[in-house]
Amino acid sequence: MNSKDIKPANGKLGVLTPGMGAVASTFIAGVLAARKGLKPPIGSISQMAHIRLGTKADDRNPLIREFVPLADLGDLVFGGWDPISPNVLEAARTAGVLDGDDLSEISGDLESIIPMEAVFDQKWVSRLDGVRVKNLDSKWDQAEALIQDIANFKEENECDRLVMVWCGSTEAFQEPSDVHASVAAFEEGLRNNDPNISPSQIYAYAALQSDVPFANGAPNLSCDLDCIVELSEARGVPIAGKDFKTGQTLMKTLLAPGFKARMLGLEGWYSTNILGNRDGEVLDAPENFKSKEVSKLGVLDTILQPELYPDLYGDIHHVVRINYYPPRGDNKEGWDNIDIFGWLGYPMQIKVDFLCRDSILAAPIVLDLALFMDLAHRAGESGVQEWLSFYLKAPQSSTDNGPEHDLFIQQTKLKNTLREWMGEEPVTHSEAG
Ligand SMILES: NC(=O)c1ccc[n+]([C@@H]2O[C@H](COP(=O)([O-])OP(=O)(O)OC[C@H]3O[C@@H](n4cnc5c(N)ncnc54)[C@H](O)[C@@H]3O)[C@@H](O)[C@H]2O)c1
Repeated sequence: MNSKDIKPANGKLGVLTPGMGAVASTFIAGVLAARKGLKPPIGSISQMAHIRLGTKADDRNPLIREFVPLADLGDLVFGGWDPISPNVLEAARTAGVLDGDDLSEISGDLESIIPMEAVFDQKWVSRLDGVRVKNLDSKWDQAEALIQDIANFKEENECDRLVMVWCGSTEAFQEPSDVHASVAAFEEGLRNNDPNISPSQIYAYAALQSDVPFANGAPNLSCDLDCIVELSEARGVPIAGKDFKTGQTLMKTLLAPGFKARMLGLEGWYSTNILGNRDGEVLDAPENFKSKEVSKLGVLDTILQPELYPDLYGDIHHVVRINYYPPRGDNKEGWDNIDIFGWLGYPMQIKVDFLCRDSILAAPIVLDLALFMDLAHRAGESGVQEWLSFYLKAPQSSTDNGPEHDLFIQQTKLKNTLREWMGEEPVTHSEAG
């Protein structure tokens, strides 16, 4: 196979995060700690995973970061926007994810990262009071200001390239409307201050207009819109979304494929969470929770294919709840009650109690998305990057076939994409039996 012509990862890569709260600060702190050799980047596929090449007998298993030309952690520069956090050290302290000991060794670096003033509108995140906000009423002017911020950041930090990963709060639920139907309609909407254009969409637009790949880590609409897909293809820039696949949904996409592989039936899946960080507070508002609920509920149907297996999965009761409970901070607890059935229809139950740390699971996803989006851009890719579905709770699909949710199929697709780009045969595991 021929390899793709991928430009080398020369120079610095700026990683811009609209939203510099728990996830973004934990991501940045972890990268700084890794490059100082303080802690390994656990959970990052790009940094820690090996990839098999050829047959098992060939015994070729390089690290992914040595196989594909990824940006080096030492070449990353961090920036972003936030309407509240004054600097990333303060954001990390407020989030309370990392211990003081872990922060103290990198506190100077974190404190020097000052978020830019945000494009923010409380209409979309009712629980937050933005104070560090651009004082511009026109959405067109807001987009122009972001484009200028991006250009300034690139120049001041002497970056060769940039990527943007939305780590901002979940915006209120909305359906796409006419203003999202095309780039022309969206630009008209920016000029007319169309109320259906949310801040995250303005960031996505500004990123693509600046030739910066954009990934959405939250469940709100921002790059899963016709206008943004059109713009990404027209400008030759990759996009990916949405909603980092972390705690409970990660578990769901691990377990559900197993039930289906064994042809075990499912009657119901009840998921509930307690979460006490700012994300939990934002999601306590029903209009913001609705965005999350839709993103979380979509998972089971595509994995279990009830249309093919009506006897097993034709009547599933799937419920997802998130409760804001401040004492837990970022240390979420997610309970799942799963009602399955087997031979002769006999019922069984599985209970999962996952005491997870939300931002600890999300941070390596931000790193991998940033590095792989940059790789895709250098490889000449544009539009929706379905091969990155592995990282996302509600993956955006570029075809009518819809997204893939099964974590193991997603992993195969991710690794085979890298193999193909590097001129290696895809691995089908057929010889492994
Ligand atoms: N932690 C996880 O496991 C996880 C998983 C999936 C998705 N997410 C999503 O990732 C996002 C970040 O999560 P978090 O835990 O860091 O939340 P957080 O509340 O700690 O941080 C979000 C930050 O975004 C800022 N913000 C809000 N609107 C903004 C705007 N218009 N422009 C710039 N900044 C803005 C807020 O001020 C806040 O500091 C949330 O949308 C969350 O739902 C998180």
